[in-house]
Amino acid sequence: MELDRVARAQGYRLLDLDEVDSTNDEARRLIDAGERGPLWIVAKRQTKGRGRLGRQWVSAQGNLHASLIVSDHIDMTLAPQLGFVVGVATIKALRLLAPCVRDVALKWPNDLVYLGAKLGGVLLENVAVPTGDARQPQLSVAIIGIGVNCAEAPKGLETPTKALAELLTPAPDAAQFFRALTQTLAQTLDLWRHGAGFALIRDEWLGAAAGLGETIRIVLGQETVTGKFETIDKDGRLVLATPHGPRIIEAGDVLLGPRPVSTEMRA
Ligand code: BTN
Repeated sequence: MELDRVARAQGYRLLDLDEVDSTNDEARRLIDAGERGPLWIVAKRQTKGRGRLGRQWVSAQGNLHASLIVSDHIDMTLAPQLGFVVGVATIKALRLLAPCVRDVALKWPNDLVYLGAKLGGVLLENVAVPTGDARQPQLSVAIIGIGVNCAEAPKGLETPTKALAELLTPAPDAAQFFRALTQTLAQTLDLWRHGAGFALIRDEWLGAAAGLGETIRIVLGQETVTGKFETIDKDGRLVLATPHGPRIIEAGDVLLGPRPVSTEMRA
């Protein structure tokens, strides 16, 4: 694995591992030991890959498993915007490698999807570390975990999945995708400028959004809400127009497309 020269020139470093429990967990251990980034941690295999909402992330060999540690004055309140920065960088990396790729989109909050089937996801975590400075006692260190199904899509999950190898010939391998991503994420973080450029990121994200303007369903624990996907707000929350008025969603799973007929008949 290698960093792109854009990332190298900006001082990004790389820890390239054969196997680890989770690159996000390794990042956390390194932060606890004083690492502040920017450092990419990449592993060929993860034995305990983690996904959003406490789920397991199946980490097949040949797929990309990477985490970036960044702490460059990230305000804790702006941290959720980072997910959108990463989503945009992920789709840009794919377009860089496969300019003709079609039907690839971003699914809120930051999944990379092909016709609704999941190609990759982002697990964003923040660690507040003491600075010893009374004026700014805490520093927010972000762990940006990214998994992309380059070679193989996990099977038997509730949600449909795809791998790049099923879409593209030739398909970029994990090393190629990683290199492109280190370039596009460095550039997109620059564009974001710690929140000052979020309007631009938001526009780019909306330009690639799956289901925008359509009726979608969002699973919120036991509850499923249906409505029109209007936009994302300045904090990156999803704005859903429902028959009972607008609903602002902070976390959940988006289901694209109309409700399946069989469910409709049972309801
Ligand atoms: C999701 O649920 O969509 C997020 C998946 C994030 C997976 C990546 S793989 C690299 C990093 N290490 C982990 O344990 N998880 C993230």
